[in-house]
Formats: sequence, C-alpha cells, structure tokens
Amino acid sequence: MSQRQINILFLASEADPFVKIGGLGDVAGSLPPAIQNLSNDTIKYDIRLALPFYGVIKKKLPNLPKMGEFPLHTGGIIIQTSIFEYTHRGIPVYFIDGAPIKEEDPVYGSNFVADSEKFVFFSLACLELPRFLKWRIDILHANDWHTAVAIHQLSTQAVFRQSSPMPKKILTLHNLPFMGAGSEDALTRFGIEPADDPHLPTWARTIPLPMGLASADRIVPVSRSYAQEILTPEFGCGLESFFKSHSEKIWGIINGIDNTGWDPASDKFITSNFNVENLSGKISCKNTLLTELGLNLQPRTPLIVLISRMDQQKGVDLAINSLRMIENLRWQAIILGSGDSKLESAAMDLENSLPEKVRAKILFDSALSHRMYAGADILLMPSRYEPCGLSQLIAMRYGTLPVARATGGLKDTIRDVDKHGHGTGFLFSEASANETVKALKRSMEAYMQQERWNGLIRNAMDQDFSWNNSAKEYCALYQQLIEK
Ligand code: GLC
Repeated sequence: MSQRQINILFLASEADPFVKIGGLGDVAGSLPPAIQNLSNDTIKYDIRLALPFYGVIKKKLPNLPKMGEFPLHTGGIIIQTSIFEYTHRGIPVYFIDGAPIKEEDPVYGSNFVADSEKFVFFSLACLELPRFLKWRIDILHANDWHTAVAIHQLSTQAVFRQSSPMPKKILTLHNLPFMGAGSEDALTRFGIEPADDPHLPTWARTIPLPMGLASADRIVPVSRSYAQEILTPEFGCGLESFFKSHSEKIWGIINGIDNTGWDPASDKFITSNFNVENLSGKISCKNTLLTELGLNLQPRTPLIVLISRMDQQKGVDLAINSLRMIENLRWQAIILGSGDSKLESAAMDLENSLPEKVRAKILFDSALSHRMYAGADILLMPSRYEPCGLSQLIAMRYGTLPVARATGGLKDTIRDVDKHGHGTGFLFSEASANETVKALKRSMEAYMQQERWNGLIRNAMDQDFSWNNSAKEYCALYQQLIEK
C-alpha cells in the first residue's frame, strides 16, 4: 500500500525552546512533533514550523546560515525577506526575517503599530514559503491573531488559487480577547482588503483575528468548554453572533503537555524525582523548596503556589485577596510570575505583610516553576477565563492539586473532589474572592486527612495529559478537511 502524505505549514508567534512567553509557546513547541510522530505506514505528516526571527532567537542561534531570500511584494511595497532553517526534534523550522522584525524589539511590545507591522509582515512572508521551498502545502495551520492574516490572505494569493485543491485553513484560538486591534494602518500599507463576511460586525472586519476566523475552514478553540463559551456574550468578545452563525466550523480540541519535559520521574530541575508509586521524593522537593525561599518547614501546613502571568485573565487579584481573607489559617504560599505592575505590587505587598507565610518572585523562571510544581501541595488558579490552561495539567502530573475556577479548559481537565474522595481538584464557579476562599478551605480540609489526600494525588497523577489524544484529533481534522 502506498503512503499518503499530508503537508502542513504551522505558523506561530512563539514556540518553545526558541522563544516562549506563554502557553502558546508550549503548544507550538510540542504539538508539531506530536503530530509528526503519528506518521505511520499509510500516512506521513510532513509538518513544518515558521517563526519570526526575533532578536532573542538570533542571540540563541548566532551562526545560522541563511537559506535564501526573496522580495515580498505587497500593496505596492517591497520588503526583502530572508529565510533561515533549523531542525528541531525532527521538525524543519523556518525563521523569517525582514525589516519589520526589529532586532531590539520585544516579542510582544506595548507599541501596537510596531507589533502589527511585524506580525502582518510575518504572516504574508509565510505565504511565500511553499513557493520558496518548492513544497506544496495541504494545510495552513495558524495560531491566534499574530498569524491570522495568513489565513485571510491565502485565497488571494495567485499561487494557491491556481493549485487544486486549495490548501485548507485552520486557525487555533488560544486567546480571543487579543485580536490585533490597531493593525488597520499596517493592513492598509500592506494592501490587505477587509474581511467581507456579513456575519462579522463592521468593527471586526479590519482586525487580524476576526479576519482570519472569517476565512478559516476550521476554528479550533483549545478546549471543548471554551468552544461553547465563545458563543456567549460573557466570553465572545462581541463575536458571539458571528461564532453562532459559523458553529459548524468550530471544533474544540484540548491542549496536551510535553510529557517528557514535564515528568516528575526524570525532571532534571528538581532535587528528588518521584512517581505515583513512590511519593517520598515529593516531600523532599517541598522541604528543599521552602528552604530555598527562606520559609520555615512546618508540619501539616499546605504549600499553595500561584504560577502565572500577572494578568487580569488569571485572577491574580482574586488569589491575593482570598489569601488575605484566610491569613489566620495554616498555609504557606509562593507566587511566581510577572506582568501587570499593579498585580506585581499586590503580590509583593502580600509577602511584606505576611513574611513568615508568603514569598513573591516577580520574574519568569522556568527552573523555579519546575521546583514549585514538584514541591507544592496546591496550585491556585482562579482564572476569569481560561481557554485551556497548562499549569493545572502540569500541576496534576506532579501531584499538586489545583484549586481553580470552573471555566474553559480548567472545567474540562479537573474533576471536582466529591465526598467519596473521587476527583482531582477543587472547582468553584463565581469569579470572586469569597468563592475562591471556599474552594481553598475545601482543599485544606482534604489536605488534613493524609490518606485521603494521597488518594487524590494518585487520581491526579494517573491521568494522561500528553499530546497523544489531542494530536490524533488534529490529524483527524486534517484528514477530514482534505477529504471534503
Ligand atoms: C493562552 C490561553 C491559555 C492556553 C494557552 C495555550 O495562553 O490563555 O488558556 O492554555 O493559550 O493554548
């Protein structure tokens, strides 16, 4: 039997290990290899990744030879574009460079004019890649607003219009509120026409993410619940009617995590490895972590961690307020993350007022996050919305039970603990400090019953959050679209 091949160009604004700011970086770093690994005798997935060649990546890979260059013609302007190639975990990675990607600029800046030029240029340059590589694509798979313009523009490119059949377009939706607003000037400069889908509100027709959503063959929110939530005014960001009229093309797929990078049994960043059969290493991880951060070891005291971008979305304010409300109970907490300066100060204030209980580390420190997932008892995640959430998946894999708001991917991946001791975490519905406190108290009561708690840890650790199932769902989607 002959082997079929599906060629997929995967576009993202970040991918681990080259550049990672948030969950998108984890997904773009681990999903393409998981898809490629599903190749077998009958079908081969040739999936390739494209990323902007940011200054931070150039520093990491200083001597990467240039593969070639071409002039990008768009809207009457010409931008010289260079392509660099690298191979990571068997996946060809193409770094795209050109004047709009400025070496000194951050990956995401506060200047939306610069960001929109950069990402619109990147999206357009990616559409030239298949011709440049002499590689026909079956699927264009983009992620979030940064690469949504590629989805919108694909059908206007002569090279694809002439190819039969046209490549299919998938847009994975990691975070709806970030739509790329403010890109209007860049779009005009690059000669890009607004979207013409009558279901899109007028304001959205010149904004990258909605433009991509309108042209995509499939919209993939990163959990089933989030796929439902975006149909409502609370989560739809003004696009709920648009989503409702296109509900047939929305298909939620939950993210996985990279099970080899996140494995308590072999993790190089933690002092004692452990697994579900032998949890003694987890206890020493907790002791080492407390000592490292100058907190006293106290018997029967749960260690709560918050590992998060400091952002409204993540409910960091709810976390801090709820901890204040129970400051007289027995617990210790470590907060790790950076972002919004008000939330950063609130975290530092909490440490200052409760120095024997709290540490706040205002930074991005991947190694420390590993030690925290391993050493903690409870992960606090009171997100206001959470398309998928990866921290709760990692925490459960390390036997740290989440206390989380029942929204989006949190709702889909955490089973609320019931009175029989079934479940993997503690969920609450309303985004308020009161409700957070109630769930925290439930978790602390369970923690006090050691046998029961160990049973819950085992429930959490026994689950499979690898990419196995979800990568298969993406492959099924690719096949279904191609066969249509
Ligand atoms: C965004 C979402 C988060 C999701 C991640 C990866 O950061 O906020 O919920 O897990 O993307 O899809």
